[in-house]
Amino acid sequence: MEQPTNRVFSGVQPTGNLHLGNYLGAIRNFVGLQETHECIYCVVDMHAITVWQDPKELAHNTREVAAAYIAAGVDAEKQVIFNQSKVSAHGELTWVLNCVARMGWLNRMTQFKEKAGKNRENASVGLYDYPVLMAADILAYRATHVPVGDDQKQHLELARDIAQKFNNDFAAFGGEEFFPLPEPLIMGAATRVMSLRDGSKKMSKSDPSDMSRITLTDSADDIAKKIRKARTDPEPLPSELEGLKERAEADNLVGIYAALADMTKEAVLQEHGGSQFSSFKPALAELANEKLSPITGEMARLMEDTAYIDSVLKSGGERADAIAQPILAKVKEIVGFV
Ligand code: TYM
Repeated sequence: MEQPTNRVFSGVQPTGNLHLGNYLGAIRNFVGLQETHECIYCVVDMHAITVWQDPKELAHNTREVAAAYIAAGVDAEKQVIFNQSKVSAHGELTWVLNCVARMGWLNRMTQFKEKAGKNRENASVGLYDYPVLMAADILAYRATHVPVGDDQKQHLELARDIAQKFNNDFAAFGGEEFFPLPEPLIMGAATRVMSLRDGSKKMSKSDPSDMSRITLTDSADDIAKKIRKARTDPEPLPSELEGLKERAEADNLVGIYAALADMTKEAVLQEHGGSQFSSFKPALAELANEKLSPITGEMARLMEDTAYIDSVLKSGGERADAIAQPILAKVKEIVGFV
C-alpha cells in the first residue's frame, strides 16, 4: 500500500458560532494547501456530540461548516469535503486506537480539563475519548499534514504518540512505520485569536458573550460594533513588536489585522504605530469587512441550497470512504482480526 507524502486532513466541529479564530487559525489555511496537497476536510459531527447537541441544530451547523469551507475557497470537486459520521472507519479505528492509547496520556489533555470543568464525573465518556477519535480521523487516511490553530497542538502530539505506539506494538506484524507521524501546520499571524472581551481567553464558540467573537454569520454592522467595543488599553499602538508585550488585547487586534491583510505584525506596527485605537479600530473593521463579507455572503447563499451542500457531503463521504477502507482493512489484518 502506497504511503502518500502530501496528504492533508483537518476538521472543524459543527457546534455553531463559527468564528474568526476558526477562519484565521484553520479554514483560511485549508484553502492555500490545495495547491500543493491532496486535501481531506471533515465536518466532525461525531466530535460535536461529545457535548449534547440539539439534533436539528447539529444538522444545520454541519451544513454551515461545509458551506464555510466552500465559501472560503476549498474546491469541493478536487478535494474531499464530508462529514465524519458518513465514514465508519473513524469509529472503527477509534476502537483499535483506544486500546493503544494510555489513560495517562489522556489524563494530561488540557482541553478535556477545561471543557469538563469542575464537574468531571458528569462529563461524557466521549469527551474524554475525544482526542483518540481525532487521532483516528487523521490516521484513517494516513494523513501527513494537519493544519490547525495553536490550541490543537497537544491533540496532535497525542496523535503522533498513538501512531508511534501502534507502529512499535505491531512492528513484527506489518505495523512497522505503518502510520506516518502527522505534522501539525500552525500557520499565519493569528494562530491563537483571543476573545474581544478578554485578551487572556481564546476566542471560542462556547463563550456566553456574543461580543467576544466575530462570527462568519455577522453583518458588517455587527463586525464594526464588536470591534469598536473590543476591550483595549488607553495607550496608542507601539511601533515595535516589543511594545505589545503585556498588552494582550492590543496584540490580539494587531494579530487579527496582520492575518487578514496577509502581513506580519511588524509591518502592521510600522504602518499604524502611534495610532490611537479610535483610528485603528475603524481601519480594522473596514479590513475585516472587506475580507469576510465575500465569504459570509457566499455562505448565506449556499445555505439556501442545502441540496447542493448535501450532494457535496455525499460525494465527499464516498471518496473519503474509498481512501479509508483499505487502510482500515490493513489495520485489521495487522492486529490479527480474522
Ligand atoms: P474546533 O472546531 O474547536 O476548531 C476548528 C479549528 O479552529 C481552530 N481554532 C482557532 N484558531 C485560532 N484561534 C482561535 N481562537 C481558535 N479556536 C479554534 C482550531 O485549532 C481548529 O483548527 N479537535 C478539533 C477538530 C478536529 C480535528 C480533527 C482537527 C477533529 N478531528 C483532525 C484536525 C484533525 C477542534 O476542536 O476544532
